[in-house]
Amino acid sequence: MTELLHLHAERRGVRPPLRGSREIQGNVLAAFNKDYQQFRFVRFTDARLGRTWLAAMLGHVSVTADVEDFNEAFSLGRALFGGDPRSLRATWTNLSLTPAGLLRLAVNPEAVERDLRARDPELVEGAEARAAFTGDDPEEWRFGRDDAPVHAVVTVASDTGERLQALDALLDLLDDLLGVVKVHVENAGTLPGEHRGREHFGYKDGISQPGVRDFHEEDPNRPGHRLGHAGALLVAPGEFVFGYDTERGDEGDRTARWLRDGSIQVVRRLTQDVRGWRRAVEEHAAALGTTAEEAGALLIGRHRDGRPLASPAAGAPGLGPDRNDFDYADDPRGASTPCAAHIRKTNPRSFTFRDPRQRRILRRGVPFGPPYDADPRAERGLVFVAHCTSIKEQFEFQQRVWAGNPDFAGGEDGAPTGTDPVIGGAGEARFETPEAAATLTFHRFVRTTGALYALVPSISTLRLL
Ligand code: HEM
Repeated sequence: MTELLHLHAERRGVRPPLRGSREIQGNVLAAFNKDYQQFRFVRFTDARLGRTWLAAMLGHVSVTADVEDFNEAFSLGRALFGGDPRSLRATWTNLSLTPAGLLRLAVNPEAVERDLRARDPELVEGAEARAAFTGDDPEEWRFGRDDAPVHAVVTVASDTGERLQALDALLDLLDDLLGVVKVHVENAGTLPGEHRGREHFGYKDGISQPGVRDFHEEDPNRPGHRLGHAGALLVAPGEFVFGYDTERGDEGDRTARWLRDGSIQVVRRLTQDVRGWRRAVEEHAAALGTTAEEAGALLIGRHRDGRPLASPAAGAPGLGPDRNDFDYADDPRGASTPCAAHIRKTNPRSFTFRDPRQRRILRRGVPFGPPYDADPRAERGLVFVAHCTSIKEQFEFQQRVWAGNPDFAGGEDGAPTGTDPVIGGAGEARFETPEAAATLTFHRFVRTTGALYALVPSISTLRLL
C-alpha cells in the first residue's frame, strides 16, 4: 500500500524524491511518529549467527520513502476526515550498529575501522570515552558501557501496543535462535491523555526541527524555509546523512562508499526528576516575582503548550502554539527569551559564530515511564535519539559547548546567561526580564542513565554485511 502511495506522490510531483530515499532507513529523515516504541539494545555472541540475524532483520527494516509516504497520507487523512485516520496503521523498524557491532560482523574490520575513524572519530571513541566531555557518569548507565558492549539497536515503532508486542515476540524468537543477547530493552511512547505530545516536565516537545533540503518541499514564498512549517530552515541533507552536500559546501565524496546514505545515531536514556523540577520552578517563581507557569516558560523558552516567549519574525505567518518562526536578533540580552533557556542554549538561532544550520540535529526522542502524577515513584524520562553526521560539531556541540557551558550566552557579549536548566547539569543561571532579575541555582534534573553512538547504515550496506 505504501509503495502505491509513493508512486502516487511522485506522479503528483508533490515532493522530488531524494536520491537515497529507498536507501536511507526510516526515522532518520522521515520520523516514525508512533505512539508505541521499543528500543532493543543487543549483542551478538557469534559473528556468523549475527550475520544471519541481520539478514532476517532486513525484511523488517523500513525505508525513508515508505515512512514519508505514510506520514503524508496520515496528515492528508487527518485534514480530510478530522481526527486520526484509524484505517492507516504501520509498524516500522530501524536498525543501527555500534562501531563494536560493525567490527564484529565485518569481514574486513580494519578497513571498516579506518573508514569510520576518517569520517567521525568520536563515533569510534564511543559515548563512554566521551563521558567526561559530555558531563556523564557511566556508572549510572543501563547500557553503553564498554564492559557490556551493545552491538545493535533495534527501534520498533507502531500505532498500537498489540502490533508492537506481536513484532516484539517475533524478534525475541529470532534473538534466541541466533544467539543475540539483550543488554537492555526500553519501552517508550507518547504520554497518555492530556500529556500527549509532551515530555515529562509538561512541555510540548518535538516542535522545532530543521527541514531537509531536496527532501522537504521549499516554501515558494519564503526561499530557504520548509513549506508548511513556519520557521523551519532548510538544511543541506549532508548534515544528517553521509554522501550529500553539507552546509560547509563539501560533498560527502570523502565518505567511504559503504557509509553513504548512512547516518549517525545518538541515543541517550535521560532520567527526569519531575518532583525536583516542579519544586525548583515554584521556588524560582517566588524569586522572580511571577507564577510557576511563567517561571517554567522562562527556563524552557516556550510555554507548556509550546507557545514561544519570542515574538514572531516580521511577516511570520503562523501564530499557533507550534510557532517556530522567530530568532533572537531583537532580544540580544534575553529579556523575552532568557539566554539560559533550554531552546536558546540548544539553538541560539541568530547568535552563532558559524551558520546555525551547521549545528542542527534531527531529534527523534520518545518519553519512557508513566506520567509523574500517575505514579510519582516510578522512573521516567526521555529516550533521546538524534541524527547527525558529526557528533562533535552537532550533538556534542549543543550538549557541551552550548548547553553545558555556563558562559555561552547565545546573545550579545556580556548578556546574562548560565547553565541550561534542563540538560546543563547542576549550576546557576541569571535571568533578567523587564519584570524581575535573579540568579537561580539548579540541581541536576536530568541524569544520563544510558548512552551510545551508532551508525544507521543504508539498506545496501546492511545487505553487504
Ligand atoms: C527543544 C525538552 C534534552 C536539544 C526542546 C523543547 C522542549 C525540550 C520542551 C521545546 C519544544 C521543541 O522545540 O521541540 C527537553 C527535555 C530533555 C531535552 C525534557 C531531557 C530530558 C535535549 C538534549 C538536546 C536537546 C539532550 C541536545 C543536546 C533541543 C533542541 C531543541 C529542543 C535543539 C530545539 C530548539 C529550537 O530550535 O528552538 N527540548 N529536551 N534537548 N531541545 Fe530539548
